This record gives sequence, C-alpha cells and structure tokens, in this order.
Amino acid sequence: MNVLVLGHDGQLGSDFMRCAGEHPDVAVSPLSRNDLDLENIADIQPALKTRTFDVLVNCTGYHKTDDVESDAQRAVVINAHAVREMAQACSALGARLVHISTDYVFDGRSDVPYTETDGMGPLNVYGAAKAMSEAFVHVNCEDHVIFRVASLFGVAGSMGKGGNFVETMIRLARERGTLRVVADQRMSPTATGDVAAMMLAAIEKNIASGTYHAVNTGNATWFEFAQRIVRLTVPKATVEPIPASEYPLPAARPAYSVLSNAKLSAAIGPIPTWEDALQRYLVAKGHCEA
Ligand SMILES: NC(=O)c1ccc[n+]([C@@H]2O[C@H](COP(=O)([O-])OP(=O)(O)OC[C@H]3O[C@@H](n4cnc5c(N)ncnc54)[C@H](OP(=O)(O)O)[C@@H]3O)[C@@H](O)[C@H]2O)c1
Repeated sequence: MNVLVLGHDGQLGSDFMRCAGEHPDVAVSPLSRNDLDLENIADIQPALKTRTFDVLVNCTGYHKTDDVESDAQRAVVINAHAVREMAQACSALGARLVHISTDYVFDGRSDVPYTETDGMGPLNVYGAAKAMSEAFVHVNCEDHVIFRVASLFGVAGSMGKGGNFVETMIRLARERGTLRVVADQRMSPTATGDVAAMMLAAIEKNIASGTYHAVNTGNATWFEFAQRIVRLTVPKATVEPIPASEYPLPAARPAYSVLSNAKLSAAIGPIPTWEDALQRYLVAKGHCEA
C-alpha cells in the first residue's frame, strides 16, 4: 500500500514515518513543506495529482492555539481550506484521506467522555478551523478517516509549539523546584507514538470510513499529568494546583475534553493507557529508567 504523508517531520508525522518502517506492506513517501506549502492553496490539487498513492495522511497543522486567535486567516487556510483541497484530490484519485483533528472541536460542557457522535462546539479559532476541516472532508471525500487526537507528546516535540508539555514540565521542575499547573481542565494525554501505531493499524485493517477518537486510554487534568511527570523524573520538585483563571491565555480552552476511544478500540484492539505511554516516552527520552 502506498501512503503519501504531509507533515512527515512534525511530532506526529515523524512517529508515523518511523512506525510505518516496521510495516513491510506499507510504503510511505513524504511530501514536505518545501515540495508543497499548504498556504499556496492553488498548488495543492496539482501537486497531489502528480503522485501515486492509495492513502493520503495529513499530519500538518497550524496549532499554536493562542497565536491562532489573532491569525485566524492563516489558521483557516492551513487547517481547513487546504484540507478541502486534499479531500477533493483524494476523491478524484480514488484514494483514502486520513486527516488529524482535535479534542478542541468540543465545548467542554460534558462531564463524560465525548464520543464521535457528540455535537461540536469549538471555543477557539483553532478548534473552529479544525471543525471546518472535518466538514470539508465529509462533504468532499467519501473514503476518509478523521482521527481526533489530543494533548500530544512525542519524542520529536511539536514543531509548531516548540516542544511539548512533558519536556516543559521537566525543565521547569529542574529550574524552579515548584510548579503551578491548571487543575480544572481535564483531557486525554496522548503519545504520538501510540497514535502512529493506531493510524497504521487502521490503515492496514481498512477500517470503515468515519471519525474516530485516537487517544490513549484514561484521562487527567494538566495538574495530574504534571504531577506524574515530575514524580517520575524530578521527584524532589513539587506541583501545586491552580485554576485556569490564574493562568489567563488568549484562547479559551474546554474545561473537559476527554475523548472516548471505544469506537477505535473496537476496530483495532486495545489502546494503552496514557500512564503506560508516558512511562515508555520518558524511558525513550532517557528521563527515567525502564
Ligand atoms: N500537538 C498537540 O497537542 C495536538 C493536539 C490536538 C491535535 N493536534 C493536531 O495533530 C496534528 C499533528 O500535530 P503535531 O504536534 O505533530 O504538529 P507539529 O509538530 O507542529 O507538526 C506540524 C507539521 O505541519 C507542517 N506544516 C505546518 N504548516 C505547513 C504549511 N503551510 N505547509 C506544509 N506543511 C506545514 C509542519 O511542517 P514544517 O516542519 O515545515 O514546519 C510540520 O511537519 C496537527 O494536525 C495538529 O493540529 C495536535
């Protein structure tokens, strides 16, 4: 199976490329920003139509959530209009589109894990652009898989954000000894290595078209996530809970964005917990022993 990958050098994309190397039946090729800058919308369909592929995997994104609030046009181009072009090209070529979306499409008013059939209600521009991208995929490409992911941490670190939450917590714990972390936002911490494995399983099994929540099992507040990171890496440091109101940011965030991964798990098998994923990540980065 030939898989063309956009965003191959990002946090998720690089894990996808590495993981695909372990699947002999999957041949991956990257299409980098140098080959195709998604801001040049008119170039997207012609560039894709010169390639031969069975599956297009879109790991790109402009997801600096706070910057995006004042840069909406660019965010909508990269995160939504570019995806419409990908969907139209895939439909014309008879290829499957695998697209990455986010937990930020939800409004956070739930207190039970969101399922794929729950209505969207984004609170910020980034979430709205991703919600738009999902609609474009639905309308333009019947053969699609949308994976909503959340709170990613991966060995490469997020290119767009300049690192990830795990590394930031470890650095600040070492520098300051005491961290103050938001305790009233609950989400699904997720390792990009595990998302990559889920994506490859889904591609190989040719799971039914539709939307799936591709997150590690379990949930945590940012405070609980930080507590576990620090306990495993800088145990002398302490973590104090604070309300989000004490850490104001330009973009509103959902208070609750836990995603149920039951639908994807039924399709591809058990999905590891975030605690297990974190432990493997910390060992891989040399932050703690196995
Ligand atoms: N990180 C999170 O916590 C999180 C949470 C929920 C959803 N997501 C979504 O998950 C996906 C992967 O995130 P990530 O953390 O792996 O992101 P990342 O490390 O920032 O990687 C983003 C990728 O997008 C590419 N890209 C950005 N703008 C582009 C453009 N104009 N033209 C071509 N390529 C462009 C980047 O290329 P360059 O290397 O050339 O910049 C990079 O390869 C994204 O769709 C993101 O929105 C992320």
